[in-house]
This record gives sequence, structure tokens and C-alpha cells, in this order.
Amino acid sequence: MCGIIGILGAKDVSQPIVEGLKRLEYRGYDSAGVATIQNGAVDRRRAAGKLNVLVDVLEKDPLPGIIGIGHTRWATHGAAIDANAHPHATETVAIVHNGIIENFRELREELTEKGRHFESATDSEVIAQLVCAYMSEQMSPAEAFRKMLSRIRGAFAIAAIVGADEDLILVARKGSPLAIGRGDNEMYVGSDAFALAPFTNRVTYLDEGDHAIVTRGGFEIFNEAGEPATRQEIVSSVGDALVDKDGHRHFMAKEIYEQPEVIGHTLSRYVDPTTGALHEAAHAFDFKSIDRLIISACGTAYYAGLIAKYWFEAWAKLAVEIDIASELRYRDIPYAENGGALFISQSGETADTLAALREAKSQGQRIAAVVNVPESSIARDADVVFPTAAGPEIGVASTKAFTCQLTTLACLAIAAGRQRGVLSEEAEGRVISALMETPRLLAQALQQEDKIEKISGDLANARDILYIGRGVNFPVALEGALKLKEISYIHAEGYAAGELKHGPIALIDEQVPVVVVAPSDRHYEKTISNMHEIIARGGRPLLISDAEGIKNAGEVWAAIEAPTVDPMMAPIVYAAPIQLLAYFTATTKGTDVDQPRNLAKSVTVE
Ligand code: G6P
Repeated sequence: MCGIIGILGAKDVSQPIVEGLKRLEYRGYDSAGVATIQNGAVDRRRAAGKLNVLVDVLEKDPLPGIIGIGHTRWATHGAAIDANAHPHATETVAIVHNGIIENFRELREELTEKGRHFESATDSEVIAQLVCAYMSEQMSPAEAFRKMLSRIRGAFAIAAIVGADEDLILVARKGSPLAIGRGDNEMYVGSDAFALAPFTNRVTYLDEGDHAIVTRGGFEIFNEAGEPATRQEIVSSVGDALVDKDGHRHFMAKEIYEQPEVIGHTLSRYVDPTTGALHEAAHAFDFKSIDRLIISACGTAYYAGLIAKYWFEAWAKLAVEIDIASELRYRDIPYAENGGALFISQSGETADTLAALREAKSQGQRIAAVVNVPESSIARDADVVFPTAAGPEIGVASTKAFTCQLTTLACLAIAAGRQRGVLSEEAEGRVISALMETPRLLAQALQQEDKIEKISGDLANARDILYIGRGVNFPVALEGALKLKEISYIHAEGYAAGELKHGPIALIDEQVPVVVVAPSDRHYEKTISNMHEIIARGGRPLLISDAEGIKNAGEVWAAIEAPTVDPMMAPIVYAAPIQLLAYFTATTKGTDVDQPRNLAKSVTVE
């Protein structure tokens, strides 16, 4: 995780570096720092805590310099304290790093034996120490940087400045993204085009294993073998405006309420509203000639994939195997000869998802990706990309990206059904018209806001909360529990309703609320029976269902009414109440909803 930025400027850079860091805070917010060079020496300011702490430090103690690097940290090695904040520096070198240096212990020992003194507990400091050590052996900065790269193992994006040179930033990428931006007599480096957007839209992404020498006049890129390499410059479409909260208290609230609109935008990419059929764009992947589809992702995106499995099976009769990316990538999977693999990611940068994609690709699978950031690494590595049109999602807990992923995945499952001759034209029309209803129904579900806020007031006192659901709503229960624990820090678990008796029911007493996701579908009666087993043991069921479902359920502790929806589309609409439930529980508790403790939006380490 961690965000990095560097600027070779025409005037002082620490202010623009902070602007860039603001756009990278989604990658981590444990600490932040900036280093510049003045009069041949490295100077830096660092501060534990969120970026505004560093802003205060810089206000009291400004940092001049026309070349600099900055960092926002998500701690891996070493606590979130000033001393472990990046940039790490020696007398001649300062570096920022995103990733993990796996062999840092042995390198640190070796350097300590040679008399070098470490001042942090991080893995990253060895980078600065190695470059510095090699420079003291009379190597040029670029040679020393290269030599350092040959010694480190792990995942990294690195930017380095050296004390004697005000026209040089050295960068490298392996496993973590890094982009170079070209300006007018200024050059930029950063973790993504979003960070560079206020400065330039002319962006060149480094490939895996690349390193580059960047000066104000341009840059030279070298591949992993050290040979000069050309990488295409793209004109980035990322907007430079910093997204605001649009009158909401939190980005998460804004993003929850944006869902009807952005689902509509996503639908318009894949559905032709005049014919009620799919656009060609939805058919870009050949589902006909594959025997099996592997789906993989992390976090909320994984739950979107779990829901999609039900759709692919029902509408396309396509065998789906799904696993979380951090497991899939290390399994000895007997990949099908005619296999396809689908990866889902909001950021398009999640390290495990990207690694799982590369493994599947190397095994000859055809690769599709559903991503929200079209210029991301996952998008660039996939054979076919299906963008979601959620727009930038700032809140760490995913909301609108999730429902836009679901919308896209529903379209793909319908496309698969058509291509495979399983779904008739008439059935396609029926499913699509149900899908087209979801923005309106989700908007209707959001109108339960006041009721949900009131119930959340009670939930906020709970120590544990269970979520149950069945069929296509089982992953909705998982997502509900994830949302709640992420932002309210209340322990929550999602279970398949039928599994309750196989363990979790032992947890039930009058202190434990159980959220029951049960629209009136073919599973309704079974799930309601499970709910009554909870009631019989003194548990407190909070039923989320439609009017009919609530009426038929008997007495419950609390109920939230959702609109009546086509059973297969329920996850898109029921996402709204479970998101609001988590949101209001968190605001009642007063937690940091948009930047919950210990989390980051983009997880670029495994
Ligand atoms: C983090 C975020 C989650 C997200 C997951 C996967 O854990 O906090 O909201 O679902 O990463 O991220 P991706 O960008 O691949 O969807």
C-alpha cells in the first residue's frame, strides 16, 4: 500500500507534493513525509498520523527545494511513529518505498556489520542505506541504485533522490505500480495517474522490473535485464479535480447515495435501453468456448464475485470456481485447457488479485477483468476489460464500486447465457428489464434512512453481530458483516443461514443481534425458520425483507423494509440497507468512517 510521489520542479515542490499526497491518502494514512534537496543536502519533514499532521509541521517549519519526494504510509514493518515514516534518508540519499523488502533482515545485518547505523524499524530503510553504501564505493547514483535493485527481494515501487543532484529522481517498479508524468520543464513520478492528475495527463507506466532515470529534460527507462526500454506514453483520462463530499458528512455517505446514478451509468455501458438487449461491449469476452470460469478477487470485490457465481450458473449454465485471490494464487489448480478467469477489483491494483491474474494468464487462461480504474495494472494485464462506471470511490469501505461491479457482472452473466445458447432472447429481455429496475429500487431502499439510523443506535452497543442469508443473498450477509466490522469495529460475521446450526448458533443470546437478509424468494421460508431458531434462543433478529416478507415473518426485534425486487437482483438493492446500517452504526460510535483504523483502500502488498 503506501503512496509515493516525486517532483522535479521549476519552483519549490513541497506544497505540490502534499497536494499529490492528498490524492494518495487512500493508500494509507499511518504517517506521511516529504524530503527535498537544498544546497547539496537532503532535508525532510515527517509526521505520524494523517496527512494534516504533516501539513501543520510544514506550516511551522517549511521545507524549500525544487526537487523532492513524498510518501503516505500504511505500516508493514515498524509501528506508525515519526521515526518509521518515509522518506528514509542517509547523509546523501532519501527514498520512498511502497511494498515489502522480504530480505531486509539479512541486508540490515550486513550493512550494520559494515558500520552503517539504522534509525528506523522499517524494511524500507535498507534501500537508502544500500544506495548510500554503494555511492561511497565511488559508484554513480544510477549505478548504486541499480546495484541496490539487484540485492533486494520482494515487492516495490521506489523513488530516490541523491544529495548532490538537484536534477535526478531514480525510480523502480516490481509488484507495485509506478508512473512517470511529463510536464513543461517539470517531471513527476507517482503511484498512479490520479496523484499526477493536478500536474499532467501525459503518463508513462513502468512495466514489471523496470527502473528509470528521470531528469527535467526527460527520462530513460531500463527493463529488468538493464536494457533500454520504450514504454508508451498515454494521455490519462483521470480528472484533476479533488472529489468533494457534495454536502454529505462523509465520502461513504455520498457514495452510498450516488449508487442509483452510477449504476445507471454502468448499465448504459452494457445495455441498450431502446432494445432492452446487451450492447456489443458486454460480449467482448468469449464465454462460449470456455468450459469453466474461475473468478477471483479480494474483500468486497470477492463478495461481488460470489454473487456473480449464482448468476453465471443460473443464466449461463457455466461452471464457476471462485476463491479469494490470496489463496487462489498459491493453489496448485488443475487449470482447464479451455478456461477463462475473471478478476474483479475497484482499484485494479490489489497485489493478490494482480498476482492471481498473472498466474492464471501464465497457465493459458483467457483473462477478463472488471475494474473501476481503467488505467490500472489489472486492466492493463487483462485480455478483456469491463470497466465499471462508479467514478472515484474515496471511502475505504467499498459501496458504490460493489453495486457497479454487481451490475457489470450481471450483464456478463447474461452475455454468457446468450453466447452459450442457454438464455433465450426473451429471457434476456426479462432479466435485463429486472436489472434496469435496480437503480430506482435502490433509491427507494435508501429512503429507509431514518428508520435504519434509529436501529443503528441500538446496534452500536452490541459486541457481536451475526448476518445470515441464503442463496444469492448469502454473500450479501457476508458483505453486510464486512461493512460493519470495517467501519464500526464491532465484531460481525456473515453465515449461510443453513450453517447457523453448525456452530454459530452457540453464540446466540439476548445480547447478539442477528441481521437476517430474507427477501420473499424461494428460500424465504427456510431462512425465516432459521430466524425463529434464533428467536427461540433469545436472540434479537433484525429482518431485512420486503413488505410481504415482513408481514409473514411473525414478531421480530426490528425490521427494515426493502422494495419488492426480482429475486436474482436482490443483492444490488439490499446492498443499500446493509451499507446504511454499517454507516449509521459507525457514526453513532463516532469512528472515522472514511479512513477506518488499520485499513487502506488500495492493498498493494500481499
Ligand atoms: C481493501 C478495501 C476494500 C476492497 C478490497 C479489494 O480491503 O478496503 O474495500 O474491497 O481492498 O480492493 P479492490 O480495489 O481490488 O476492489
